[in-house]
Amino acid sequence: MPPLERERLDAYLGLLGLHRGDGVAAYDAAARAYDGFARIWDNCIAAPALAHFNALVTEHLAPGANVLDAGAGTGERTRVLLSQDTVGHVVALDGSQGMLALAERKLRDPRVVFVRGDVNRLPFPDNSFDLVASTWVVETLDDPRSAVREFVRVIKPDGVAIYAFCSLPEGRGGALLKRVIDLAAPDSGPLSVLLPEPERPFHHCERSSLHQFSGGLTTVAVVAKCCVIESTHLPCKLP
Ligand SMILES: C[S@@+](CC[C@H](N)C(=O)[O-])C[C@H]1O[C@@H](n2cnc3c(N)ncnc32)[C@H](O)[C@@H]1O
Repeated sequence: MPPLERERLDAYLGLLGLHRGDGVAAYDAAARAYDGFARIWDNCIAAPALAHFNALVTEHLAPGANVLDAGAGTGERTRVLLSQDTVGHVVALDGSQGMLALAERKLRDPRVVFVRGDVNRLPFPDNSFDLVASTWVVETLDDPRSAVREFVRVIKPDGVAIYAFCSLPEGRGGALLKRVIDLAAPDSGPLSVLLPEPERPFHHCERSSLHQFSGGLTTVAVVAKCCVIESTHLPCKLP
């Protein structure tokens, strides 16, 4: 990878990790540079996960679907959602005014509205959306499960939430990576963002799915209305 791209990728991971759980002020500050970092990430390490994410979105979108992009950032994923003819409306929600302002400037489409809000307390009633989509957001939060519980609350009974996040590879590869990180940079934020398996916000059931990519560094999950996010193996809360 050319040095400039490498630098931007490092900066992007730094942005994700250094600011885990400390609000959205950092994204406000970094908004203008964000797309430069994110492009490298999206086109390199995250590319296989995003291809799967996009295929899942296409598969689950019914005509006229009402979609929430949770943690929409500068709107790059919102743009992909809007490229689907079946989409009725998209709400692009983010906590950072700076990120949202850029999204609003880029996306002029009557089907999208921009909302400033917190993914841990979504400002929508239960059962509002056919689909919640979210990329590279839950791992930046103190409590990733809290946001996914909110996704489940706001989807309709036959809706789904599809979300991608950075993960710590399982097995020896992950253990080795963690050891190297701990030794090299014990206080480094960037890789604290790789969610280890016990912290992953997910629930195993017939309607959910979880796939990993790039050696386990990225994960794409789907959960449904029946899912109990507190623990991966509890029984579903609905039949
Ligand atoms: C790494 S960016 C991802 C943006 C976009 N989804 C993408 O794929 O490019 C994380 C985004 O989550 C937002 N965010 C972080 N914590 C949030 C919260 N509690 N509520 C709403 N948005 C939040 C940040 O402002 C930022 O725009």
